[in-house]
Amino acid sequence: MNILILGSGGREHAFAWKFAQSPLCEKLFIAPGNAGTAQHGENVSLDILDFEKIGEFCLNEGIHMLVPGSEDPLVKGIVDHFRGSDKLKHIQVAGPEKQGALLEGSKDFAKAFMAKHSIPTAAYQTFNASTLEEGKKFLETLTPPFVLKADGLAAGKGVVIPETLEEAKNELHAMLADAKFGAASARVVIEEFLKGIEVSVFVMTDGKDYFLLPEAKDYKRIGEGDTGLNTGGMGAISPVPFVNQEFLKKVEERIVKPTIAGLQKDGIDYRGFIFIGLMNVGGDPYVIEYNVRMGDPETEAVLPRLDCDLVDLLDGVCKQNLSSKSLKIHPQTSATVVLVSGGYPEAYAKGKEVSGLNSSNSSLVFHAGTKMSDGKCLTNGGRVFAVTSLSDSLSSALEQSFERAKEIEFEGKNYRRDIGKDLLKIQQA
Ligand code: AMP
Ligand code: GLY
Repeated sequence: MNILILGSGGREHAFAWKFAQSPLCEKLFIAPGNAGTAQHGENVSLDILDFEKIGEFCLNEGIHMLVPGSEDPLVKGIVDHFRGSDKLKHIQVAGPEKQGALLEGSKDFAKAFMAKHSIPTAAYQTFNASTLEEGKKFLETLTPPFVLKADGLAAGKGVVIPETLEEAKNELHAMLADAKFGAASARVVIEEFLKGIEVSVFVMTDGKDYFLLPEAKDYKRIGEGDTGLNTGGMGAISPVPFVNQEFLKKVEERIVKPTIAGLQKDGIDYRGFIFIGLMNVGGDPYVIEYNVRMGDPETEAVLPRLDCDLVDLLDGVCKQNLSSKSLKIHPQTSATVVLVSGGYPEAYAKGKEVSGLNSSNSSLVFHAGTKMSDGKCLTNGGRVFAVTSLSDSLSSALEQSFERAKEIEFEGKNYRRDIGKDLLKIQQA
């Protein structure tokens, strides 16, 4: 099978690494890829949103399966583009159609979907510029902190959690009246604040059957102790010690099964990943958000724990025969530490030479923002590497990842030294 992956981050490197191990994978291409993906396949310079060019490339190279890494092409309808074209419809795309991608593309759609199908989530209401005053009145009925979410995609920045009513009203005004997040905040979801511990679960579905992949916890803030600005993700751990069988059973029964049944009832053909952000509120799971793709860096922690052929599983997703496949998960713990450029998530420099990539340490080094230039590996983004180690215990997996993180050098390198430390405390408690 010839496969094209769309994207250039650590998640896409992890996919490329895993696909390259499959006997089913013949030719592997990554568009646009990075210095790491080039170790497993051929990088091609294609814009991930230029569906015409992607289609032409797929025909020229005899691609059988297309795997979009991020939500953008899915929300913009890449699956519909391929299925709607006589020339392209034989090519399998691992991802939902545009309508299904709205689970991530519109917070209001996702909340209405959950309400309709009785899936536990925070109570909410949605407002637009013409109902701004009602929105302010609704805020007055809530207890702080307040949760305001721009309806559309806002590069992970669309959720604001003000502590005071005044700030919340100002924020709502900025989003609706001043288009703080452009068209993405033309509608704003205001919801109840949920207090608990977050965890993410990953579902792979062909629309009828599903597999629950290993769960993960990620670390969103730039600073140690969960301080400072939000990032794409500074680390991930899998499995998560507080997620026991009882909790997972609740997640499956109350959230995963009703989500898949709801998609079917609503006539949505969903073949792909569903990444469900959950809050564990006193032992009960509530959905914070749906994403229609795998997470980054969660993928770099989760895929190394799959002890089975991911290409075969994705083929089952696309051909809708997932029930004939089997999922096998490694019991070991994986710990992923992300190395970022100095200044990230604000302005940062690119083009810094990287050294220390060769090591006897067995950790996996997934590239994110890197590129090769004149035989040298240079930094090329905010998140530069995701270092993953698998071990029998969380503490030794962390120790190995931090050791490897120290060896890799580039000017301005930064990483959080406290990834996973909160979970070690839970384990010991
Ligand atoms: P999202 O982009 O929807 O994942 O939201 C970003 C972050 O905001 C989440 O990871 C949570 O930490 C937080 N968050 C979102 N919704 C809620 C909520 N209803 N209650 C508490 N925290 C929330
Ligand atoms: N790490 C969070 C995400 O991929 O959305």
